[in-house]
Amino acid sequence: MTAHATLARFREYMVGPARFMNLLSCFELGLIDALRERPGMTAAELGAAAGAKPDAVAQLLNLPVKEGFLAYDETAGTYRLDALADVGQADLQRVLDFMGKIKATTLRQLYYLTESVRTGTLVGLRELYGFDGDLYGAMAVHADLREPWSKLMDSVTDRIDPWFFDHIDVPAGSRVLDLAGHTGLGAIHTHKFKGSPGLHVTTFDLPDKREDCLANFRAHGLEESTAFIGGDVFDGVPAGFDTILVKHFLNMFDKDDVLKILRNVHDSLEPGGRLHILVPIYAENIKESWSVDYYPPSSWAAPPDRAAPRSCRRSRTGWSRPGSPSPGSCRRTRRTCRRTPCRCRAS
Ligand SMILES: C[S@@+](CC[C@H](N)C(=O)[O-])C[C@H]1O[C@@H](n2cnc3c(N)ncnc32)[C@H](O)[C@@H]1O
Repeated sequence: MTAHATLARFREYMVGPARFMNLLSCFELGLIDALRERPGMTAAELGAAAGAKPDAVAQLLNLPVKEGFLAYDETAGTYRLDALADVGQADLQRVLDFMGKIKATTLRQLYYLTESVRTGTLVGLRELYGFDGDLYGAMAVHADLREPWSKLMDSVTDRIDPWFFDHIDVPAGSRVLDLAGHTGLGAIHTHKFKGSPGLHVTTFDLPDKREDCLANFRAHGLEESTAFIGGDVFDGVPAGFDTILVKHFLNMFDKDDVLKILRNVHDSLEPGGRLHILVPIYAENIKESWSVDYYPPSSWAAPPDRAAPRSCRRSRTGWSRPGSPSPGSCRRTRRTCRRTPCRCRAS
């Protein structure tokens, strides 16, 4: 690459954040939906529909017009969907869920990426939320992080699970553990795609997922053939399962943590049990990998030991953080206390 070409590549990075938010704002303001319903609107009409200044709307729409997503009729001064008209609503919604998640969690963390890499902690969560720990812990207490993330996760799982279950064998009557199974969608899908008499699926995830998970099981009439166990994989994995599923999870940890998780999974499997892991494949040639673009270090899970801001104390009744409202009354384990905020019961 010539020096000129190298600098030209920088331009792509410089416009990246603005392009991302410009496009997302068109959706968030309802401009795209308005044009889908009524093609041929002017900036003034779109502005009135969105409650925004027409000039600002016109400026915002320059980019989607440039991209060919929208078309602009200069004579009439009107807009209509162009390439966007050919994208199916479900496909578009999936991409928008992804962009919503990127806005809510990724951008907030990336502002502090340099400091996060330097310290091995998620500095964005500390600076913006006063939170020490990893993204999962923060989501347990902050709905504005959790909701877009959960929406995206369910949409990804909904799309990929049918393929996943098509490629694995779950023997009839298995006792299955869906490790880091979020709010139970994987367990529900196990019944849907691999159902058999006696099949029982347990979702294991951080304790704050319990209520939503059980509600999902009830909504699908699966109370009898499912269960939820709350815990932290680094403390140990419940035993007594002959099939364990680990989907969309290991790629968020470094090698050391992945090995810890796999050792705990191994200890929990019955002899002869099976483990099915779903992870993105990292292309050997990084020039062909999108993971390189999407997963810089320290933007998801922080190394727990270095992330621990203060150590927990043990008392007769359990572990708790110094300064927690009722020291010693925390039912959580030490590891959990270190990774997520300690919410001791006020007994
Ligand atoms: C990317 S989601 C995967 C969801 C699910 N496996 C699926 O396929 O839809 C990761 C899940 O891991 C859970 N998780 C994160 N850290 C965990 C930990 N230390 N122990 C147990 N679960 C954890 C999160 O709460 C989240 O639900």
